Amino acid sequence: MCGIFGYTGKKEAQSLILEGLKRLEYRGYDSSGVAVQNGTHHIFFRKTHGKIRNLEEILKSHPLKGTTAIGHTRWATHGTPNTLNAHPHLDNEGEIAVVHNGIIENYSELKETLKKQGVRFRSQTDTEVVVHLVAKYYRGDLETAVRQALRRIRGTYAIAVISSREPGRIVAAKLDSPLVVGLGREENFLASDVSALLEHTKRVIYVENHEMIVLSKNSVRITDLAGKPIDRKPVTIDWDVSRAKKGGFPHYMLKEIFEQPGIVTAILRERVNASVIRFDELKVAPAEFKKIKKITIIACGTAYHAGLTGKYILESIAGIPVNVDTSSEFRYRNPKVDSGTLVITVSQSGETADTLAGLREAKAKGALTMAICNVLGSSMSREAKGVIYTHAGPEIAVASTKAYTAQLSIFYLFALYLAGIYRTLPSASIRRFLKELFRVPSLMQKVLDDYKRDAKDWESNAHDFNRRYHAQLEKYFSEASHERKRSPNGFFMYLGRGINFPNALEGALKLKEISYIPAEGYAAGEMKHGPIALIDENPWVICLAPRSSIYEKMISNMQEIKARGGILIPIVTEGDKEIHRLKPLYSIEVPRVEEIFSPLVTVIPLQLIAYCVAREFGEDIDQPRNLAKSVTVE
Ligand code: F6R
Repeated sequence: MCGIFGYTGKKEAQSLILEGLKRLEYRGYDSSGVAVQNGTHHIFFRKTHGKIRNLEEILKSHPLKGTTAIGHTRWATHGTPNTLNAHPHLDNEGEIAVVHNGIIENYSELKETLKKQGVRFRSQTDTEVVVHLVAKYYRGDLETAVRQALRRIRGTYAIAVISSREPGRIVAAKLDSPLVVGLGREENFLASDVSALLEHTKRVIYVENHEMIVLSKNSVRITDLAGKPIDRKPVTIDWDVSRAKKGGFPHYMLKEIFEQPGIVTAILRERVNASVIRFDELKVAPAEFKKIKKITIIACGTAYHAGLTGKYILESIAGIPVNVDTSSEFRYRNPKVDSGTLVITVSQSGETADTLAGLREAKAKGALTMAICNVLGSSMSREAKGVIYTHAGPEIAVASTKAYTAQLSIFYLFALYLAGIYRTLPSASIRRFLKELFRVPSLMQKVLDDYKRDAKDWESNAHDFNRRYHAQLEKYFSEASHERKRSPNGFFMYLGRGINFPNALEGALKLKEISYIPAEGYAAGEMKHGPIALIDENPWVICLAPRSSIYEKMISNMQEIKARGGILIPIVTEGDKEIHRLKPLYSIEVPRVEEIFSPLVTVIPLQLIAYCVAREFGEDIDQPRNLAKSVTVE
């Protein structure tokens, strides 16, 4: 959480920092700020509460001149999200400025000590101790002062520091919060994430834990915390900058939903050649997988739901027992994993603090570890023994969509890959599965085509959206749900069974995170054990009921809901006539797809429902309140 961006070069820094922060805004958006060196004895800064557009307004009327600067967009941990607590934080002389992503755990004791020494604190943040410590140790060399300050600090950080006395220089350091250096020509950059750098350069250096960086326009020096130089080759990022832009869509979320069929196709084409599945970057030999007796998957949020679906996939295709845990529970419960366990972390960002901690715990217990993640060079990809990248491109909307279907696609391929190694499936069956899997992106596309049919101008007129979805959603979800939103009884239930159960959880999460409407997902078979007590005319029950081996069971569950006056919105296979007997409020059709691959198709209407409802309410779809894209604090 929080994004930091730094620039040193020949250009005016202000607009570069603003652009960089906008790209990082998904990491936190409750306040922002920028600090600039301008050749005087003081650092000049502007900061404000709220979104980056507030900072932009201030900079328009009160611009900052200077070619070396650091900026920050905040997701508050310590101290309310107001202007005073926004970063940068400055020392009492106004000569040193710091931006920080992470948590300083021992800040209160450091604060007390510094206060006794006469330091005046202005904010309630943990970060402010960092700048005062650097100032305390400053004797004309910022690098040394930062090094000394870091020795006093416990916690996590990615920091960038400038001093008015050292023009053109940024000193940065990292421990458990992401930091990437972008290499330019006569200019260099720092950012929390590569997506903020793509506009300027594709040559980057990932900063590792316990490393410091000294950046000037013509040099980047990396050292460890003791000052020992470190030689690290830059890597070239293959993401295209256009993938980090909206590309004509009104929201990143909608763009990312629409990218999904293309991403799944690209994953399959990249990984499968003549029915042979390859993971070139994996770095784990098939022989190592042969030693594995069980798999544990750990992840958070949407990635956790992908992990739950992964369990169904791996157990049924590869025939290996799988346990799935939320990372925050796994890391604190002395999990029983050992050298016979493959621990898979699933993460879009590769930086989620709990998942990263779980990965370390698993490594410490001797487990074989593997990360399924999207961001190249992220902490998880570097720390796990093996990595499989989802290659979904930058996911900017806070609500995850394309990362989810990319993670599912990797699970299908990985399960088939293991089935080949374990010989749990004959080659002919693996080939058949692959053939069917290759068909799935076109089915996903069909759902999207139905959605946008009749759409004329997405940007300007949401009401041109497809009649089948949009008009119905407007009728059933928006007008009525405006009232529902005010009603304490208004909520959504999502039900699924078997391999579609995790999608029920995912559908509910998508809706609540972007529309703020209460929504819960349940395994349909669990209804009788409690949740059915909630059924009356109030909740709308979205049921995942595509044709499958358990379709009849879903029908029975839906009948039970109907019998109690419940309102049904089933998602069914096209041509399903039986569903009409249940008199659903509305049903959404998806193309026929083999049961095991159905989550890739059935999740799309769930994503679109969440999107349409939030849009009708006029919510901030890409940056929902209280959330941040990567949760790099506990
Ligand atoms: C939900 C969402 C979050 C993330 C979760 C894990 O839409 O985006 O629930 O899935 O914070 O993040 P990663 O995948 O980066 O580990």
